[in-house]
Amino acid sequence: MPARTLPASEPLPHIWSGQCRRDQDLTTGELRRLLALAADVKRTPQRYQSALAGRYLTLLFEKPSLRTRLTFELAVKQLGADCVVSIGPIAEREPVMDVARNLARWTHAIVARVFLQQTVDDLAHFGAVPVVNALSDLYHPCQSFADLQTLTERFGDPAGRTLAYVGDGNNVAHSLLLNCARLGVHVRVATPEGFEPNQNIFEEARIEGERAGARVVHTYDPAEAVTGADAVYTDVWASMGQEQEAARRQAIFAPYQVNEALMARAAAGALFMHCLPAKRGQETTHEVMESAGSVVYDQAENRLHAQKALLLMLLGG
Ligand code: CP
Ligand code: NVA
Repeated sequence: MPARTLPASEPLPHIWSGQCRRDQDLTTGELRRLLALAADVKRTPQRYQSALAGRYLTLLFEKPSLRTRLTFELAVKQLGADCVVSIGPIAEREPVMDVARNLARWTHAIVARVFLQQTVDDLAHFGAVPVVNALSDLYHPCQSFADLQTLTERFGDPAGRTLAYVGDGNNVAHSLLLNCARLGVHVRVATPEGFEPNQNIFEEARIEGERAGARVVHTYDPAEAVTGADAVYTDVWASMGQEQEAARRQAIFAPYQVNEALMARAAAGALFMHCLPAKRGQETTHEVMESAGSVVYDQAENRLHAQKALLLMLLGG
């Protein structure tokens, strides 16, 4: 989808489910509008600087964060809103149900980084305010919005392009699968045995891909996944909360490192993508991170713009 500017008279688009607990809460049309709005926010941030004046958000982080926490804090401020941040377990002293009901009395939306998807779902169910998934065990929607904004900037409409994801079939892989497939981007996922994406999410992405003309495939062979790909994406081998498995995983995932030899199989000028934080020397190398095709800091920058668009769609107007 080519980036476009919303005419000044056009009202902000809305997400009718009122939620972003997972990628599926946005229709494909809403995802396209989010990307168009993110491009406009990036181009003309001053247009939106008081769009959410008087709104307050709660940011909850059960896990560490650099990008997500700071870009949400900045997004809120750049839209004229404000936020409170809480770091630590969400439901240590009382059930999520009660936490959600309290927060909904004080603030207009909740952004939550959690261990369990169920926590995001419960916050939305009991809180009755928009809830944004800032990473759970199953999804990382805000990351994939920024990833698709980055792909769109590089390729124009990314439909018909091929993205290879190499590594762990995790939260980042799931959100990429779902959103790339429905925008017509072919996705090839290569994982070791036992680390495949969640079967239901993969199947959902495959069906969405069929509708949009995108092939969604899984292989155990990283070379097969990457050959001729327009973009190669990887993520850490052990996600937050899996630290005790890191050593075992390093041995299993070693053949899946995205290094210069693997990148050489991709299309000429292929992009290298990573959600960050990256472990140089493990899932990728210093050379690939620093290569001309690396767009990892564009992805990080676009977290800000894409999340501003998301908040405008959830809370604006
Ligand atoms: N990509 C990402 O979500 O980064 P953080 O863990 O730093 O938020
Ligand atoms: N899969 C990683 C992504 C970090 C942004 C994790 O969950 O830790």
